This record gives sequence, C-alpha cells and structure tokens, in this order.
Amino acid sequence: MQGVTVVDHPLVQHKLTIMRDKETSTASFRRLLREISVLLCYEVTRDLELTTRTIETPVTRMEAPTLEGKKLVFASVLRAGNGLLDGMLELVPAARVAHIGLYRDHETLQAVEYFFKAPSDLENRLTIVVDPMLATANSAVAAVDKLKARGATSLRFLCLLAAPEGLERFCRAHPDVPVYTASIDERLNELGYIVPGLGDAGDRMYGTK
Ligand code: PRP
Ligand code: URA
Repeated sequence: MQGVTVVDHPLVQHKLTIMRDKETSTASFRRLLREISVLLCYEVTRDLELTTRTIETPVTRMEAPTLEGKKLVFASVLRAGNGLLDGMLELVPAARVAHIGLYRDHETLQAVEYFFKAPSDLENRLTIVVDPMLATANSAVAAVDKLKARGATSLRFLCLLAAPEGLERFCRAHPDVPVYTASIDERLNELGYIVPGLGDAGDRMYGTK
C-alpha cells in the first residue's frame, strides 16, 4: 500500500510476538513496547534532513552532520500512545510532545476527545503521531484532523499493529501522512479489535480491564 512502511526488522518482529502472547505480563508488555519504540523511532526518522555545522574535534576542525530544522514533535494518543512515546524520547530527548486524549466508544467505535495539548508552533515542525493500534482508524483520523486544525502540515503516523480496513480508511482521509507499522494484521473482528492482534493495548500496558 502506498505511503505505508512495514518495519520488518527481526528484533521488532521477535518482540512483537512476545507482546501478542496473552501470557505476557503487564511488566514485560510495557518493557517490550518501550524497546520496540526505540527501533520504530529509528525507522520513522531514517530520512530526516541533515545540515552541517563546524566543530573542532580533538584532532581537527570539520563540517559535521547535524539535524536540520526545528525540533520534532511526538504526538501521543492517550493512553496507549505513551508506551511508544517513552522509548522515542530516549532516542530524541529534545523532541516536543503533544498529548491527545481520545478513547473509543465501545458501542459506536467512534473516537471521543477528552484532552488536547500541543506546542503552539506546529506548522514549523515535523509531527510524528504515535499510537500502538490502528484498528478502525477513527482515533488516528481524529488525532491527525485535530493536529492539522492546529497548524501541523508535516506529519507521520507510527503504530505497532494496523488492520487493513483501518489503513485504507486512514490513507484515504490523510493521503499526505505516511504510516509506519510493525505489522498489517488480517482483519477487524465484529467488536472492532485487530485479529490476531494483541488485545487492548491500553489495558495490557496498565493492567486495567
Ligand atoms: C485504542 C488504541 C487506539 C484506538 C484504536 O485506544 O490505543 O487509540 O484504540 O482504535 P481505532 O483505530 O478503532 O480508533 P482506546 O480507545 O482503547 O483507549 P486507551 O488507549 O485509553 O485504552
Ligand atoms: N484498540 C486496541 O487496543 N486493540 C485493538 O485490537 C483495537 C483497538
């Protein structure tokens, strides 16, 4: 699918399998999500533009590569997005952070917003939206709608699992936003859960039901 990158690195796939396993504990699930997020962050930032600056090494002066442009924004879709956010901030500690509070209404599967806080100058920054699950894509579409309404023009969406139905809907709604995922699963079930999936990401991260 155009605009979709599947991160098939063996370490990502191995860790994902352990996360999918229903016997994996909350503590292990959280740790693995943090570890995977570092690897996914590496992929989603692979083509960031570089410029150079002059530095003095202990040996000589050189023109050394450095990231161009303003600091990145990581936009976490609460709650489960925070599991990806932590590892990404380890890799890019200077990134700015947006929080978007959304939950899925279990009956309608529509995304309900309860919180939004983002840096004010989104138009000048690359914004990477993070949420482990892209199921119907209602949450992802709502999150990106909101960020665009607040000025974001350059966005990427990073998740762990995507359903084909959700991917199609997201790419239709936001064709300008590339998606990075560790897996495109088989389908959604009648309750809107990803199959085979890993269950409810937020519940598995935080030990809730
Ligand atoms: C989960 C997940 C996504 C959403 C995906 O969040 O983290 O945000 O569902 O489903 P969708 O693509 O059908 O919208 P949930 O609403 O369960 O909230 P939580 O993270 O607070 O548990
Ligand atoms: N949200 C989740 O956490 N899991 C799913 O399978 C679908 C939506």
